[in-house]
Amino acid sequence: MLGKQIKVGNVILDNNVIIAPMAGVSDISFRSMLIDFKPGLMVSEMISDKGILYKNERTLEMCKTLEHEHPISLQLFGRDLETMIPAAKFLDKETDCDIIDINMGCPVAKVVSTNGGSSLLKEPEHAYELVKAIVEAVDKPVTVKMRVGWDSTSINAVEFAKLMEKSGAKMIAIHGRTRSQKYKGDIYYDVIRDVKNAVSIPVLGNGDITDIASARHMMETTGVDGVMIGRAILNNPWLIEEVKADFFEKEYAMTMTNEDRFKWLRSRFIKMIEITEESHAVKKMRGFSTWFIAGLPDSKALKSRFIRMNSVAEFDRIVEEYLEERNV
Ligand SMILES: Cc1cc2nc3c(=O)[nH]c(=O)nc-3n(C[C@H](O)[C@H](O)[C@H](O)COP(=O)(O)O)c2cc1C
Repeated sequence: MLGKQIKVGNVILDNNVIIAPMAGVSDISFRSMLIDFKPGLMVSEMISDKGILYKNERTLEMCKTLEHEHPISLQLFGRDLETMIPAAKFLDKETDCDIIDINMGCPVAKVVSTNGGSSLLKEPEHAYELVKAIVEAVDKPVTVKMRVGWDSTSINAVEFAKLMEKSGAKMIAIHGRTRSQKYKGDIYYDVIRDVKNAVSIPVLGNGDITDIASARHMMETTGVDGVMIGRAILNNPWLIEEVKADFFEKEYAMTMTNEDRFKWLRSRFIKMIEITEESHAVKKMRGFSTWFIAGLPDSKALKSRFIRMNSVAEFDRIVEEYLEERNV
């Protein structure tokens, strides 16, 4: 059986299907949509160490967690010990997160230019000192999200992962691409497998998991402890249940019609309004709706209507008209 619990320090993940951190996406409204699918763990969007220290309002908002979403990991990005340690202490003592994750995989120029995210892969000794200092400063388990290396000429994930384990990290999630590949190109399954074989802490395999077959492929070719799924969830949140059922060898029949899918999305919209302001929920739902419909017939026209909607009533009208047109 591929399904199992994962122990991250003193935190037990009930299953090994994990939701990846996604900046601009994985805030509490997005996570509230996924709670009922019961993934083993959800990781927040990356949170700036300096934003925490400067008490930036938006950053502090990102540090909030929901009562029913445990276990939840908040992800920190930054580079310098002087700012990362107090920021990690804040997550440790002033928030309800269960795990603190350190971003060592982000490829975007804004983050890399400050020597954070994936640029830490080029400074293994510094990354080691950073994680070690954070582990010593906090009580909650610390984990690391990384890539296989900076580029194809500098793949160093095995040595890097060993250093992370030595620094006290309690789990590693590895996106099987280099920084240069960003989000496209072949996954280095062999490197993920080598990382898994090189360390004793749990390892999650990440990258291009879009269905049961690709989830199984990740588990079986690399031997990782679990899978971390990002983009595919945006279009198909039921994937969490499907993969879990497959891993734990349970029956699962996906019987959703498009109408059911929209009903589900609407119910999440209402829930989101309950936990955030309506204007914020509407803005978020414009994005979620457009990801959600990718692949549906006439999704382009539907998308252009969703990105301009201003209320639940408008959402209802758009969906009703779309379904009516499709039934003709
Ligand atoms: C919109 C977007 C935002 C992302 N933001 C983060 C982030 O904040 N922290 C991080 O470690 N990875 C981030 N990632 C990378 C994902 O966590 C994941 O590693 C990557 O998308 C590959 O997995 P997937 O193929 O399942 O999407 C982001 C990816 C996307 C598409």
